[in-house]
Parts: sequence; structure tokens; C-alpha cells
Amino acid sequence: MSNAFISGTGFYVPPRVVSNHDLITKYRIETTNEWIVQRTGIEERRFADEGVGTADLALAASTMALERAGLVAKDLDLILFATLSPETAFPGSGVYLQRKLGLLDDSPKFVPAMDIRNQCSGFLYGLATAAAFVRSGAARHVLLVGAETHSAALNLSSGGKSVAALFGDGAGAVVVSATDEDRGIRGTWLGADGRFAETLSQPIWDITKRPFIPVNDQGVGQVAPDKLWAGMNGKVVFKHAVEKMILSVMQACWALQIEPKDIDLFLFHQANMRINQYVQGQLGLPDEKVPHNIQHYGNTTAATLPILLAEADQAGKLTKGKRVALVAFGSGFTWGSAIVDF
Ligand SMILES: CC(C)(COP(=O)(O)OP(=O)(O)OC[C@H]1O[C@@H](n2cnc3c(N)ncnc32)[C@H](O)[C@@H]1OP(=O)(O)O)[C@@H](O)C(=O)NCCC(=O)NCCS
Repeated sequence: MSNAFISGTGFYVPPRVVSNHDLITKYRIETTNEWIVQRTGIEERRFADEGVGTADLALAASTMALERAGLVAKDLDLILFATLSPETAFPGSGVYLQRKLGLLDDSPKFVPAMDIRNQCSGFLYGLATAAAFVRSGAARHVLLVGAETHSAALNLSSGGKSVAALFGDGAGAVVVSATDEDRGIRGTWLGADGRFAETLSQPIWDITKRPFIPVNDQGVGQVAPDKLWAGMNGKVVFKHAVEKMILSVMQACWALQIEPKDIDLFLFHQANMRINQYVQGQLGLPDEKVPHNIQHYGNTTAATLPILLAEADQAGKLTKGKRVALVAFGSGFTWGSAIVDF
């Protein structure tokens, strides 16, 4: 049985920077830079321009990951796409990315494309899936992307300030490949607790209703603001995030019979600097082992971990022999961790 290792990483964020100050001056949101920075650590985020979709962001990240893996798109056996902001209700973004990658040009390769809907832990659920495909021999090279275009679906007004200030757009990608070397994805530990399904959600429609979205006399669907925009009980999310992130790290360490000090780098989902600093403190981790980029990108949901991973790679922190922990928590609630040896 082969091991599954990360053979390439890539990321892309759209060029438009939206600072906390821009939220106040351009979007007229009643907030302050201090409020956002103190509670979340976020200073700015990136917003894609109209006309740019999630698969477009993913294409740029994927192209970089493929190049760094020394592969071309037609080497791929599977595409996994983690996002909560797909182009349309269906199909998912995976098939759009497949098309944009040129897989259907000239002599088409009908590479399967699967979408993963696990929000902030989507990348880790995807990594577990990619590793399983590679280890079983069902695939040699899997492209795993986490990408989000949040800016299109944020309530960018004072009414939405508690959620809108947190999120940004971006994409990260990895290629997971087979190797006979003794390295790679050592394990993934995933969890979910559906009792909190509504605590962080964007309900938009209700499939138990007929029709699923209220329709007016002219046949036009009308979604009430409390259903249209994402809603969150921030304090409940905060409490469960720290608990489950610490638990996930301890689960991984227990399973591999290692300690946090045996891990070189901890890549935490970038939802909130305070959550991550609390987890870091509880685990007794030194600052140099816990990089952040939330200051610049905000929460890019499924994209935070692969962006952080690609940045660490480009900074020369993922040299052979390095051991990395990836940890995430998010809507569902869902969470998880992974240990990867480079
Ligand atoms: C979102 C979060 C920063 C909010 O902090 P909080 O201290 O819980 O704040 P609350 O939501 O209780 O709101 C406190 C006050 O700040 C206000 N407020 C909310 N957002 C604001 C903003 N962007 N600017 C200024 N004031 C804001 C609220 O309206 C409220 O005012 P009130 O007391 O007059 O009603 C915090 O709960 C958090 O980080 N939770 C985790 C979120 C997360 O990580 N989500 C993603 C998980 S994947």
C-alpha cells in the first residue's frame, strides 16, 4: 500500500484589498478598526470582483499546486473541491474547475470531480478522502482545493456587521500523490456534532416547505434577510472551537504516540486570532510554531488551511522531515486534525 503525501501546494487571493477602514467608509458599516482587530485579529481581507467565481480562484491556486508538484492537469485521477460558496446551488464547483483546468480540451480526460460540504473543516475532510483514495490505490494524484467567494453573500451593511467583518475570499490547493517513501499524511481525525447545525448557518431555503423558497404573485422567490445571510451565535462557536481544536490535537498525538513538542508547525484554521491564541496557550506552543495570516485575509473558510500551507511551503518551512499538524473547526459543527510528514 502506498503512502499519500502532499506533492504540491498553491494559493490565490484576489488582488482587491478591503481594510477594516474600507468597511466603514465604502460600505457604511457601523464598526471600528479597534473592535474588529481586538476581537478577531483581522485587519483586512480580499474581495473578488463581480464576474469572478469560486472555480476561478481555485483555478489559479490549482495551477500553482500542479506546477509545484511537477504535474499537469491530465495527470490527475480525482478532483476534490471543498467550498460553501459554489457558483450555483448545483452542480458543485468541482465540474467548473475541471472544465477550466482544460481537462476536456483536445483529447478529454473525464476526471471525476467531487464536492465537499464541510465548511471550515472542508479541507481536512477532503484531505482524509484524498489520502484514502491514494492509499487504496484508487488514485495516484488527487487535486484537493478549498476556495470561497464569500464577498458575494455577505450582508455588507451595519445589520450584518457581526458576520460580514469576519470573512474574505481566497483559494488554496494541494496535490496528494502516492509514494513508497515513509512519509506523508499519517492520519486524519474528524468529528461532527449536528446538535449545533443551526448555530452557524445560512439557511436560504427550506426543502421541507412547498415551495422551498416563498414565491410572490409574480412567481419571484423572496428570501427573508434572516434566512438570506449567514447567521451565527459567535460566543457558542468560540467556546466549542477552542474545545474541539485542542481535543483534535490531543487525539492525533495519542493515536501516533507523539507529543505536541514533536510537531514542527501547527496550522490552525484562520477564523479568529483569539481562538487560535487560546488553543496555542493551552497546548503550550511557541509563537514560531503557529503562523497566522488572518490579519490579511480574514476567514476564507475551506481555503484557510491550504493557503497557510502554501505560504509555509513558499517560506521554506515544509522541508523534508518536517512534521505539520493541521487543525480546523467550523459550521456543522464539524472539526478535525491531520498530521503530515513532509
Ligand atoms: C464574532 C465575535 C468576534 C463576536 O464577539 P462577541 O464579543 O461575542 O460579540 P457579540 O456578538 O456578543 O456582540 C457584542 C456587541 O458587539 C456588536 N458588534 C458585533 N459585530 C460588530 C462589529 N463588526 N463592529 C462593532 N460592533 C460589533 C454587537 O452588535 C453587540 O452589541 P450590543 O452589545 O450593543 O448588542 C466572537 O463571538 C467570535 O469570534 N466568535 C467566533 C466566531 C468564529 O470564529 N466564527 C467562524 C467559525 S468557523
